[in-house]
Amino acid sequence: MALKITTHAPGVRLLTLSRPEALNALNTQVLAELKKELAQAAQDPEVRVVVLTGDGSKAFIAGADILEMKDKAHQEGVEFAQLGHEVTKLLELMPKPTIAAVNGYALGGGCEMAMACDFILAADNAIFGQPEVGLGIIPGFGGTVRLAKLVGLARAKELIFSGRKVNAEEARQMGLVARVFPQERFLEKALEVASQISKNSASAVSRAKQLLNEFSESVGLNSKLDAEAHAFGRLFGTFDQKEGMGAFSEKRKPAFQGLTHERA
Ligand code: COA
Repeated sequence: MALKITTHAPGVRLLTLSRPEALNALNTQVLAELKKELAQAAQDPEVRVVVLTGDGSKAFIAGADILEMKDKAHQEGVEFAQLGHEVTKLLELMPKPTIAAVNGYALGGGCEMAMACDFILAADNAIFGQPEVGLGIIPGFGGTVRLAKLVGLARAKELIFSGRKVNAEEARQMGLVARVFPQERFLEKALEVASQISKNSASAVSRAKQLLNEFSESVGLNSKLDAEAHAFGRLFGTFDQKEGMGAFSEKRKPAFQGLTHERA
C-alpha cells in the first residue's frame, strides 16, 4: 500500500501518499488506492474533512509516473487520464471539504491533484508546475480545466506552455495556494485548519461547497475532462512523447521533432 490512512482530531482523515523511491509519483496502483479511499471517506459519516499530503519533505507528488507512462499507447493514455479524473472528481465533488497539504514538489499530476482539492495549504518549500510539454504530452488529470479557473487564462497558458516551476509564495500570490506555513510546523498547521473546519456545521459546510462549485463553472466539468483525456491520449505513441519520456528515464535532454499534424 502506498497510501497511509490516519485519523487526526475527530473527523479529520489524513491520506499520506508514500512512494519515496519515485517522489510519490502516481502510478495506476496508487491512483486505484486513492480512488477507493476517497470513495470510502466520502461515504463515511465519521469523516468530516479529508487532507491529502505526501510523505517526506521533498515531494507532495512529483507527477504521474513517467516510467509507467512511457510505453503507453493512445487508448492506454486515455484510460490513464480517465482514472486520474475519477480521483480528481472525488476530491472536487465529494460533499465534504478536501485540503491539499503540499510539501515540496507538486508537479504535473501532483499539481492537478492539489488543484482538485477545495484549497491548497503549502509549506514554504513547496514547488508547483505543469511540466508535461517538456515530456511531449499535456496535463491530463484536469490541469487544462482547473489551472485557468484558479489563476486566470493567461497565467495558466504561461505556466503550461513554459512548464515553469513556481514557489509557494508566487503560487499564493497568483491564487493557486490559500495559505503558506513554515516547513517545520507545516503538517501541524494544516491539520489545525482541518480540525477548525471539522468543528463547524458539516451540513452547512457541505452546502457551501456545493454552491461554490456550482457557481464557479464546475458545470460542464465532465465534458471538459473527457475532451482533455482524449487529447492527452492522442499524444501517446507520438515521437515527441516517446522521446520526452525516454529522455527523462535516461536522464538526458529530449530532442523533439517540431510541429507535426496530430494523428486522428
Ligand atoms: N515519475 C517517475 N519517477 C519519478 C518521477 C515521476 N514523475 N519524478 C521523480 N521520479 C524518480 C526519479 O526517476 C528518481 O528515481 P531514481 O533515483 O531511480 O533515478 C527519483 O524519483 C528521484 O528523482 P530525481 O530526479 O533524482 O530528484 P531531483 O531532486 O534531482 O529532481 C524533480 C526532482 C521533481 C525536479 C525531478 O524528479 C523531476 O523533474 N521529476 C519529474 C517531474 C515531472 O515532469 N512530472 C510530471 C509528469 S507528467
